[in-house]
Amino acid sequence: PETGCLSIIVLGASGDLAKKKTFPALFNLYRQGFLQSNEVHIFGYARTKISDDELRNRIRGYLINEKSAPGQSEQVSEFLQLIKYVSGSYDTEEGFQLLDKEISAHESSKNSLEGSSRRLFYFALPPSVYPSVSRMIKKCCMNRSDLGGWTRIVVEKPFGKDLDSSEKLSAQIGELFEEPQIYRIDHYLGKELVQNLLVLRFANRMFLPLWNRDNIDNVQIVFREDFGTEGRGGYFDEYGIIRDIIQNHLLQVLCLVAMEKPVSLKPEHIRDEKVKVLQSVLPIKDEEVVLGQYDGYRDDPTVPDHSNTPTFATAVLRIHNERWEGVPFILKAGKALNSRKAEIRIQFKDVPGDIFKCKKQGRNEFVIRLQPSEAMYMKLTVKQPGLEMSTAQSELDLSYRQRYQGVTIPEAYERLILDTIRGDQQHFVRRDELKAAWEIFTPLLHRIDDGEMKPLPYNPGSRGPAEADELLSKVGYVQTHGY
Ligand code: BG6
Repeated sequence: PETGCLSIIVLGASGDLAKKKTFPALFNLYRQGFLQSNEVHIFGYARTKISDDELRNRIRGYLINEKSAPGQSEQVSEFLQLIKYVSGSYDTEEGFQLLDKEISAHESSKNSLEGSSRRLFYFALPPSVYPSVSRMIKKCCMNRSDLGGWTRIVVEKPFGKDLDSSEKLSAQIGELFEEPQIYRIDHYLGKELVQNLLVLRFANRMFLPLWNRDNIDNVQIVFREDFGTEGRGGYFDEYGIIRDIIQNHLLQVLCLVAMEKPVSLKPEHIRDEKVKVLQSVLPIKDEEVVLGQYDGYRDDPTVPDHSNTPTFATAVLRIHNERWEGVPFILKAGKALNSRKAEIRIQFKDVPGDIFKCKKQGRNEFVIRLQPSEAMYMKLTVKQPGLEMSTAQSELDLSYRQRYQGVTIPEAYERLILDTIRGDQQHFVRRDELKAAWEIFTPLLHRIDDGEMKPLPYNPGSRGPAEADELLSKVGYVQTHGY
């Protein structure tokens, strides 16, 4: 690994994302020894005028919880001492010059150690300020060390609202930074079971001949949350569930399920294959979309009374290639549903010439549960134990909690921030990938924005609109029953 001075700058340090995700992830990395206190310094930057200690106190509460190990509070205090706060605006040079001065002071105090200077700028910011902040960094805060090193930026979705706005944003940032300096985070790519997809698919002989249209009937990628847009109504209403979850998180998962084997594990080889999948997706048909909005959504004072924004959507994607022609990929996401769950369900076709007459018991299904309680299980038909020759559905179950007792599964953000420090872009979205993702959903999003497609109402705590289940059966999904 590289050595030398590492400065991590969290822009938007007093905001929600920084407190809830970025600082806790940095703390976990520190706790595990990935951030050495003789090398690293963390800077918080935001407009609010507060002191170092005020920022530290705001963060502290998010670093210690009921699951924290005894003695953690000492480590938290050590970690908080690494954080310095600089206040300034997002579009004028003064603040960024001051920030640069602080970073440089830290570098000159530690650089005598050895090696280069590394500057990582984490944008925990609303995208509207991405262009100005990128300009300011480029102008005032780039690494200038003679000993080498780098400057990288980490950006979060939403990257625009449709193809045009996203392309504009990409062009603005692309003029200032090279692609290897830009880390577009999609935190689903940092989830353990999402990262496992490549291994599962390409390191298991068993799956190779099965993973195609000859054997797979349909694929579902599902995200459910059992709470609404609490406190985020204003943000959410501008974007809706398709931009919030489907166009990024679920589409990324689809790529990993559907892509061909990459030439190697090099980030570019993997991303090349993902782009090909996205480019092979056919235009989405209106009749293969169901939108929903939960009752009570518009009661949020930050949501307009006549909002047309979907909080639920099911859309069928069709991949036009040799492997997947005719196989529906059903992407489904919803807020305020009956459970919190994210999973991939791969449903196989019926066995031809069934001598057991067991079709009613269902099909083979391979389920990869991303959360909660990571697991993979395979639904099989087996002989019902006993004297009779009858069949039943059962499961081959690999539940992570049982199989990997005592192993802590890292948080997505933790892993992804470590990747940015190490310079590994495998789990980040490349510019052409982002463009291809927007190309798929932009026509549908425009129809919704123009009021040409309307969400159906559903009860909070339900499965969503019944029409979504009807669509599922229409495209071939068969509900299977366990024993
Ligand atoms: C975010 C969305 O990207 O992902 C949120 O903006 C959503 O609306 C969250 O709640 C879900 O993430 P996770 O990791 O809890 O599934």
